[in-house]
Amino acid sequence: NQAAMIVDKDFRIGEVDKRIYGSFIEHLGRAVYGGIYEKEHPEADEQGFRTDVLQLVKEIDVPIVRYPGGNFVSGYNWEDGVGPVERRPRRQELAWRTIEPNWVGLNEFVDWCRKAGSEAMMAVNLGTRGPEEARNLVEYANFRSGTQWSDLRIQHGYRQPHGIRTWCLGNEMDGPWQIGAKTAVEYGRIAAEAAKVMKWTDPSIELVACGSSGIGMPTFPEWEATVLDLTYDHVDYISLHTYYGNRNNDSGNFLAQSMGMDKFIHTVIATADYVQAKKRSKKKINLSFDEWNVWYHSNEADGKIKPWQIAPPQLEDVYTHEDALVVGCMLISLLKRADRVRMACMAQLVNVIAPIMTVNGGAAWRQTIFYPYMHASAYGRGTALVPLIQSPKYDSKDYTDVPYLEAVAVHNEEQGEVTIFAVNRDLNGALPLSIDLRSFGPCRILEHIVLEHSDLKAANTADAPDRVKPHNGGNATVTDGSRIEAALAQASWNVIRVK
Ligand code: AHR
Repeated sequence: NQAAMIVDKDFRIGEVDKRIYGSFIEHLGRAVYGGIYEKEHPEADEQGFRTDVLQLVKEIDVPIVRYPGGNFVSGYNWEDGVGPVERRPRRQELAWRTIEPNWVGLNEFVDWCRKAGSEAMMAVNLGTRGPEEARNLVEYANFRSGTQWSDLRIQHGYRQPHGIRTWCLGNEMDGPWQIGAKTAVEYGRIAAEAAKVMKWTDPSIELVACGSSGIGMPTFPEWEATVLDLTYDHVDYISLHTYYGNRNNDSGNFLAQSMGMDKFIHTVIATADYVQAKKRSKKKINLSFDEWNVWYHSNEADGKIKPWQIAPPQLEDVYTHEDALVVGCMLISLLKRADRVRMACMAQLVNVIAPIMTVNGGAAWRQTIFYPYMHASAYGRGTALVPLIQSPKYDSKDYTDVPYLEAVAVHNEEQGEVTIFAVNRDLNGALPLSIDLRSFGPCRILEHIVLEHSDLKAANTADAPDRVKPHNGGNATVTDGSRIEAALAQASWNVIRVK
């Protein structure tokens, strides 16, 4: 029952685009109000942003943050969120049945991103609105001056254009739950027309077309084929969304679900390349996995929340150790297709299905899933290398031949380091692993970080924020110049850093 891995610097998958470590802030629950922003909080800065939260976001080092939705964006008037706060309207927010006070909007969010060291990824409303409002927003955000919308931005106190590079053409437009949901043809046409005028307004922007809301949607992958057929020349990325859960308390099956993510990515690439072939185009469409995470713990509680409140505690999943392992596997899935997955957003960042939790007026802390996300963002930059793996396998309810070892390596040429990210899916025992780093010459272990816990259901909470946290006492050792041996603890996430 031994696993083996060959890591060779010439077996390159591709350069990792750091934007795969992106995240997402939606006007939903306490993500904005009580999350990134809380005017009355003792640690709020002059703009009302929580500096304790900013600190944790910086720890992860999040390069890009999608905003303002999600389902929210499909009913949003971006103009409601700019200009003097006291004149902004309060509105019934139909996607999540809350009241939106518009205390935070585009300009404040861009300020917050600067403070967090992130870049904004903006979504436009293609549910209730269309190309006209989308191009006005690009003009407001990115045009220098001398036009109605750019001058309005300047009047609002922002002389310099924001220079927002990445834009999403709507959100989950295939979903019947979406405000203004569309068929693939309806969406493909409006997305193409919005894309044209947005790029004419600012030719430097990149655009993401909506793919299916999930691999299980009845129109997948025909949706992707039709949408790309209608938008191919005008867009740069197609989006993917996926959430996993352990509703039947079958942890072996839960941990295997990232294999579904591999299949999803593979099928979307195949579909995009099919459209490329059909169009005889030189252009490749890349993937933006702009919503991914574990999401299920809060489903029942959400059904009981009274509608029409400002920032109620919606989608507040409290994550367990096993959730962190699934998140680790999902990060590995993204890295395994680093050649085509150029952006990804863990959904979301604060309070709402998030690695960071807060109490209103109180503390902020790291959930279990914070750790694999932070490790990947810190050590997963460079060139992703093909994981040549031999591993014992198991069968679960939905998957056969699930390897106990899920792993990938990233070579950071600049630092002269290789990092191996590895999950041991075995819930009952350690997994001996031998890593052959043949092309790297003699190596030494910088550290072997391990996230493990005897209780798969252990979670971090306000009163015990450090119940689950990593240590760097893993047992990886160099045995023979460039061969590493380790025993990966049962049900563990591992980061083996080698120089
Ligand atoms: O991230 C939560 C929600 O999940 C988003 O608003 C929506 O796009 C998806 O269904």
